Amino acid sequence: MKIRSLSYDEIHKGSLILVNQAHALDEHAAEDLVPVAESAALLQSSAAHALARLMDDIRGWQQIVFVSAWRSRREQQQIWDDSLRESGPEFTRTYVAFPGHSEHETGLAIDLGARREQIDFIRPDFPCTGACLAFREKAADYGFILRYPKGKESVTGIGHEPWHFRYVGIPHARIMRTQDMTLEEYTDYLKRFPYRNSLCPGESAGHRIAISYIEADQNPIRLELPDNCPYSLSGNNVDGFILTEWR
Ligand code: DAL
Ligand code: ZN
Repeated sequence: MKIRSLSYDEIHKGSLILVNQAHALDEHAAEDLVPVAESAALLQSSAAHALARLMDDIRGWQQIVFVSAWRSRREQQQIWDDSLRESGPEFTRTYVAFPGHSEHETGLAIDLGARREQIDFIRPDFPCTGACLAFREKAADYGFILRYPKGKESVTGIGHEPWHFRYVGIPHARIMRTQDMTLEEYTDYLKRFPYRNSLCPGESAGHRIAISYIEADQNPIRLELPDNCPYSLSGNNVDGFILTEWR
């Protein structure tokens, strides 16, 4: 067994952090930002690499363009202010997250649009045809979810955004897609699987996957992990951590 010690503050970091109106972003949540596809756009490196592989797989850049990736707090504030002035409060609350509460500030979210002459920066067109459809169909295999689906507006607090994808990693994206869960719902669902009482959704590359929730009820939190077992840990930005083990 190896021991890992986690400080409470680490609940605000990782690919499974829930950022929404109720859960603000920690100012250090966006780490390891790298350029995407030789552009000026930035994403966290895990998201950028997964996106590059997905786009290679579907030859996506011929038909798809980046509309928005990482945004600073200042940029989000500017978008919020411009939208309020140009489109009013109802539209703005539906399609723009309050500054400090936007997934774009984490570097884990991207807005994509179909390549066209005119692109709407707030609501780009990302249809269910061609490379855009191929992207939707394969997104979960590379760790991306459609973050603001139709019919879940009351759960996410944001209108349907067919263009906004969020990196959560594998196997989480596939589970959320299969079970039709938003990140809000998945964050709650995983609490049914406390540490050592894991959710075991299947196998990947010969490993059994085990997912469990660790409540951050002390500081620091002390974890016993088996030797020789690859794992990843992410905060949930609410009250604990998600441990994913490949046993
Ligand atoms: N359009 C999404 C909700 C954002 O502003 O983060
Ligand atoms: Zn977006």
